[in-house]
Amino acid sequence: MEIKVVENSKSINCDLLVVSMFEGEKTSCELANKYAVDEDKFEGKFGETYLLPTYGQEVYRKVLVLGLGKKEEFNPNKMREASAKAIKKAMQIEAKTVAFSLDGIEFDYSEQFTMGALIADYSFDKYKSEKKDKKVKEVYVQANEAMVRKAEKIAAAMSFARNLANEPAQFATPSELAAIACDLGLETKIYDREECEHMGMGAFLAVAKGSAQEPKFIHMKYSVENPKKRIAIIGKGITFDSGGLDIKPPSSMLTMKDDMSAAACVLGVMSVIKEFNPQVEVHGIIAACENMPGCSAYKPGDILTAKNGKTIEIDNTDAEGRLTLADALCYACELGVDEVVDLATLTGACMVALGTAAAGIMGNDDEFVSKLIDTAQRSGERYWKLPLWDDYFESLKSDIADMKNTGSRWGGASTAGCFLQKFVKDVKWAHIDIAGTAFLEKPQKEFIKGATGAGVRTLLNYILEQ
Ligand code: BES
Ligand code: MN
Ligand code: ZN
Repeated sequence: MEIKVVENSKSINCDLLVVSMFEGEKTSCELANKYAVDEDKFEGKFGETYLLPTYGQEVYRKVLVLGLGKKEEFNPNKMREASAKAIKKAMQIEAKTVAFSLDGIEFDYSEQFTMGALIADYSFDKYKSEKKDKKVKEVYVQANEAMVRKAEKIAAAMSFARNLANEPAQFATPSELAAIACDLGLETKIYDREECEHMGMGAFLAVAKGSAQEPKFIHMKYSVENPKKRIAIIGKGITFDSGGLDIKPPSSMLTMKDDMSAAACVLGVMSVIKEFNPQVEVHGIIAACENMPGCSAYKPGDILTAKNGKTIEIDNTDAEGRLTLADALCYACELGVDEVVDLATLTGACMVALGTAAAGIMGNDDEFVSKLIDTAQRSGERYWKLPLWDDYFESLKSDIADMKNTGSRWGGASTAGCFLQKFVKDVKWAHIDIAGTAFLEKPQKEFIKGATGAGVRTLLNYILEQ
């Protein structure tokens, strides 16, 4: 989909003109006012639409009135949802060229307008032998050009991440993620099993043992001279989570190709970072492997030694993400960065707590966590702070090692956070649990089913705002 910024969107010859309308007000389109508002009492409630023909009387073939709800309640997040709604409608009626008349909406909304249109434009049909091309080809809008172009890049990074997370585990293997990382044109180092052994990554490598797929530890680096800040972003990269010997039941395993959504997010961010040229150093880190119950699989009761020397007794092989992240966190802390953010589809417990509406966030620095929450809010995501009290570590205590990898069922997201904290040293750190937000089992707001690219928008905006 191409977005063209124009002077007067109503003068464009197109299949569909979308005119926005605040609740209880009129539109800037006579036709819409006459037939939708006055005659059919279209109220302009948020998310409501009304389609009108123009019978060849106008340069646009149809008009879609787009309800924006009450003017005083309107905000950038609603803008994004509304533009997504309009694009979905346009696809339904197979309109290929769509002009938007967003009267009374300031140009400040251009970024989220574009985000909504491009997020709604996404589809994953590469494995369909018959492709239905219902896509909108061109969008015309009066908008702030710079904001449109910025949003295009962020949306491209999201689509990149969504494609990877939607890709079946048979193709999106650790080696494939490594190859993709190497193609991004950044300084990249891939560590294989042997090199990870030398680095002492006993926790990460234990998870990889049951799989025929080789583990890959990926480190991408974007650098600038005299960076204002150094940041490391870590993404959980379990390319398939069967649960290991503590195998998952079928219904829980069904979507576990998405257990590398956070890795996909990191790759998505790194895929566009050069185009933004931010004055910060950014390290993208992924410990990629599969969690499988093969004959060499790690077992309940095993004791592993992580990169920082801490020992971990395996209580449940399905709590594998925190093991891979443990070594990745140790590695990141040794880089001497100022801030580390890890993202992970880490716990079902986080999903139970927050559903698909928000990701859980925890960390060792309140100001850092608050900044990320605020950035998420402005980026169109929701992060909700969960506690990291020492109390949650109680159930992780082991009789024979420094800790166990799982404890009480209760407060599982915070328990996992406390586990991770044991591998963080001398750095501002935040952990974002995207188990609920990374992959949707039904459409939600601007998203279709499947991968959402969770984390991409927020991380990119956070990096750009430094
Ligand atoms: N990848 C899962 C978490 C998950 C669950 C992500 C549902 C997305 C949707 C993770 O590795 C896992 O299996 N966690 C276990 C931990 C438990 C054994 C302590 C869980 O949440 O059940
Ligand atoms: Mn698991
Ligand atoms: Zn997992």
